[in-house]
Amino acid sequence: MSQGLEQQAREQWKSRTGFMLAAMGSAIGLGNIWKFPYITGEYGGSAFIIVYLICIALIGVPVMLAEFAVGRKTQKDAVGSFQELTPGKPWFVTGLFGVMAAFLILSFYGVVAGWALSYTTKAMSGDLLAVPGEQMADHFGGFIGNALSPLLWQTLFMAIVIIVVVRGIKEGIEKWNKILMPTLGVLLVILVIRSVTLPGAGEGIAFLFSPDFSALSGEAVLVALGHAFFSLSLGMGTMITYGSYVPKNVNLPTAATGVSIADTGFALLAGLAIFPAVFAFGMDPAAGPGLIFITLPAVFELMPFGQFFAVLFFLLISVAALTSAISILEVPVAYFMRKFEWTRKKATWILGTIIFLFGIPSSLSLGAWGEFTIFGKVFFDAVDFLASYILLPLGGLCIALFTGWALGKQKSLEIGGFGEGSVWGKLWIFSLRFISPVLVALVLLYSTGII
Ligand code: TRP
Repeated sequence: MSQGLEQQAREQWKSRTGFMLAAMGSAIGLGNIWKFPYITGEYGGSAFIIVYLICIALIGVPVMLAEFAVGRKTQKDAVGSFQELTPGKPWFVTGLFGVMAAFLILSFYGVVAGWALSYTTKAMSGDLLAVPGEQMADHFGGFIGNALSPLLWQTLFMAIVIIVVVRGIKEGIEKWNKILMPTLGVLLVILVIRSVTLPGAGEGIAFLFSPDFSALSGEAVLVALGHAFFSLSLGMGTMITYGSYVPKNVNLPTAATGVSIADTGFALLAGLAIFPAVFAFGMDPAAGPGLIFITLPAVFELMPFGQFFAVLFFLLISVAALTSAISILEVPVAYFMRKFEWTRKKATWILGTIIFLFGIPSSLSLGAWGEFTIFGKVFFDAVDFLASYILLPLGGLCIALFTGWALGKQKSLEIGGFGEGSVWGKLWIFSLRFISPVLVALVLLYSTGII
């Protein structure tokens, strides 16, 4: 009976579409529109993209399915679900890594999302497009190097995230995603069309689609896999938590594949919106984190109704970031609510505030605190590295070993939603047993400097 009560009290997505859109909203975020383009630029373009696609297919989809399956089966948060499936065993530590990764990732995510919010208002007021294209880099550098202004925007963004999560994500998130994700897609397509039709765009298209494998380093492979986890929201229990709200009748393998395809499609479109324009203006494709805040405003200046598109684009990036940030905050919130019996309100405000405070040094490290480095990285990059290239792969490794080995094949196939003798089911287990753990373990050994 208690189980019946529990299930009644627990929120569920209204519909399959609602769940898919929320999961896509989590996956599609700054990782796709901001980070994917700039790491592609830094690590050599199309050869990097091919490695990335392989990582998504061989490791990303199987691990996402594993997270959905564990969450839906147990209807518990990232830590509790492991405790329920393997009581008394240390697997729940996977969930604790996830909660830690959520703290770190959301702390710097809030900083970058704050930049997007700020650029939305700059675009609205006309200030942004009044800056001559060739001065955009200085303009951006001046903005993030300023101590106060980025902090105010980070505060605003985190406040919105907290307010949404406090209210409970179901109603708001499902509804907003339904409107905003398709709109974001349409806008990206428009930008792609504009970008690829610029004179001199061909070089950028070649950069994306004609691979030069000599440009590929071991580090690039590490970054590709780390980013696959980041972009698909894997390795930290987000998809376990979202999966725990999924109704029984949803086909999880289809859902994991669909979300992964949508996420990857968005990333590729973002690349196509950016690189042709980067090359057309003779800019540096390896410009790093500032790429989207420097290159895109210059593109908008050349478009008819550019201001209108600039406003919508930065607004929608902010919202894409919002739907992702909510999913990140939901991981520790769901855990603290169950573990310490905190109310949603209490958990959200306390955890959201701590995460916000932890983001402040990240923000300052790009300006005033730039001298201070950890292992040669400024604070912002150090936090990103620890979370994206160590904690997320570690979480991914554990979840792959858990579903591949610890649960037992039959049980895993059952919770994954595969029928007897399904070929896809066999491939899934094979990836979880061998491909994912080996590759992810290599990443970990590499990123910790062991190999
Ligand atoms: N996937 C999101 C993006 O690409 C960010 C994100 C949301 C995330 N939830 C996550 C990253 C969980 C890692 C883990 O921007």
